[in-house]
Order: sequence, then C-alpha cells, then structure tokens
Amino acid sequence: MRAIILGSAAGGGLPQWNCGCPNCRAARAQGPGRTQSSVAVSADGERWILLNASPDLRQQLAAHRALWPRGVRGTPLAAVVCTDGEIDHTLGLMLLREHTMKIPVYAPADVISLLTDQWPLFRALSAYAGADARSLPDGAPIALADVAGQPLGISCTALGVARRPPRYARGAPAGTFDVGLRLADERTGGTLSYIPTAAAVDAVVERLAAGADLLLFDGTFWSDGELRSAGVDAVTAREMGHVPVGGAGGSLGALPRLGAKRTVLVHINNTNPILCRGSAERAQVEAAGIEVGDDGMAFEL
Ligand code: MLT
Ligand code: MN
Ligand code: ZN
Repeated sequence: MRAIILGSAAGGGLPQWNCGCPNCRAARAQGPGRTQSSVAVSADGERWILLNASPDLRQQLAAHRALWPRGVRGTPLAAVVCTDGEIDHTLGLMLLREHTMKIPVYAPADVISLLTDQWPLFRALSAYAGADARSLPDGAPIALADVAGQPLGISCTALGVARRPPRYARGAPAGTFDVGLRLADERTGGTLSYIPTAAAVDAVVERLAAGADLLLFDGTFWSDGELRSAGVDAVTAREMGHVPVGGAGGSLGALPRLGAKRTVLVHINNTNPILCRGSAERAQVEAAGIEVGDDGMAFEL
C-alpha cells in the first residue's frame, strides 16, 4: 500500500487566514505552509482512496502526479473515507462536484446522517455528480470498492473514538461521530492505522494501532490550554476531543508502547509548538521516537 500525507494541518491550516500566532507569522514570512488534514492511499498505485476530504483538496490533488487525471476527464480517485463529519474533513467533497460520476463516500452511519441533514452536503452534491454514501460498520472489516463495486485491494476497519458531535450539530442525539481506521493491503498485508482525532489513548486506539506498519495519530495540540494561552477564546484540547501530545496524560507517554512500527503525528493545529523545528516540544517528540508529519510525506507499506 502506498500512503501520502496530503495535508498535515488541523482545521484552519498553516497559516490560518485570521491567525497571527508565532507559527502562522513564521509560515507567512518564510513558509512552508501546511494544508488541512487528508491522506491518500492506494494498493495498486493506480486507484486511490482519499482519507478525509480537505478544504485544500484542489491544491493537494495538483501537488501529486499520481492523483492527476489520465484523460481529458477522469481521476485516479476511486473512493473517499471520512472519519468524521467535521468541516475540515468534508468540505473537499464539494470540490469534487466536477466529477463525471458519483464518488463513493464511506463514513459511519451517524456521519452520513450529519451530511444529509445538519450539513446537507450530499443533498447539494446530488445536483452535480453526487455521492454514493456507504456506511462503515463498527469494528468489522469491509473491502473498499470503487463506484462499480470493483474491490480496491484495501480492507478497512472503523472503530468509534469517543467524542462530541461537531459544533454545527450540538443538538444531535448521541452517536458515533468520529472513528479511527485500520487499513490493510489485502495482498501485501501492509497496515495503516489512521486516527486523526482521539480524545484519549484508550483500548480502541490500542486495538487500531497494535502492530501496525504505520500509525498516523492526532497531533492537534501540544497542551490542553494551548488555544487560551495563545490568546484565543476557546475550549480546551480535551473538551474539543483531542488528547494533547505533551504533559501529564499526554499521548507522547502512551504512543511508543502501542507497538506500531512507525508513528507520525498529523492534524496538527497551527498553534502547536512542535511545528517549530527548534522548539523544546519538537525535540521531546523526536526523542520519543515519534515523527511530526509533513505535507507530501509518502510511505510504502
Ligand atoms: C476538530 O478537529 O476539532 C474540528 O475540525 C474543529 C473544527 O474545525 O471546528
Ligand atoms: Mn479537525
Ligand atoms: Zn496560528
């Protein structure tokens, strides 16, 4: 399986349009910026599956030759898997409206409901190419397939990670609004655990990550009060459903014992000090054997 981190930043990207924090100022002055959270995977190098559809999808597709069209109209994108219904992971679906056929979109059933009702993206898209919404069962592997039902050579197991519904759907009844994924190449056995959002390193995360060739994990915030310390009026990392990387109970203490062969942080918020290469926090991450993800980072699994 080939995997590419298309975008390593959390919602807002780096720089975020209305942010003057030190990381955003540095990115404006000297680059490089980071696009918003998404990963692409492929078993055969020809047909690709998008893991989350970023608001920066257009730029991300342009940046990678493997994702360029083959003819006057066409795309190597065969399916999308959404781990949640957040804006930063779904807005890119709207950018696929020029497609000439329906795009299969795998998501947990409760996320399909969000994208049908509270954030009616599927309804809007139906006037264009449309989406073929396919529900991801909880805990059972399914073979991902293209629009014609042809298997793509990758199986996907989704497990719910505890979290509130997105802000735009605070009133939604309790459900599974965020999942982590375990993807396996059916031929090579290569495995990728993709958990861009996790409120804790708990039994679900352990199950998803155990022995994986690559774990891409929630690196949103370094500390619980990071946004408030940056002068932003916001809830804490944990209240948002992101376990901080550093500090007591942070993911850094727990990730190395999960048994993944390689662990890379993704969905990194622009305020996170690990983005600054010379920071003490970055050094702490690297000393733990964990990597900070970058746009364009590619893996063969
Ligand atoms: C998150 O990951 O917490 C969300 O994407 C936040 C947001 O964009 O509102
Ligand atoms: Mn997000
Ligand atoms: Zn910023």
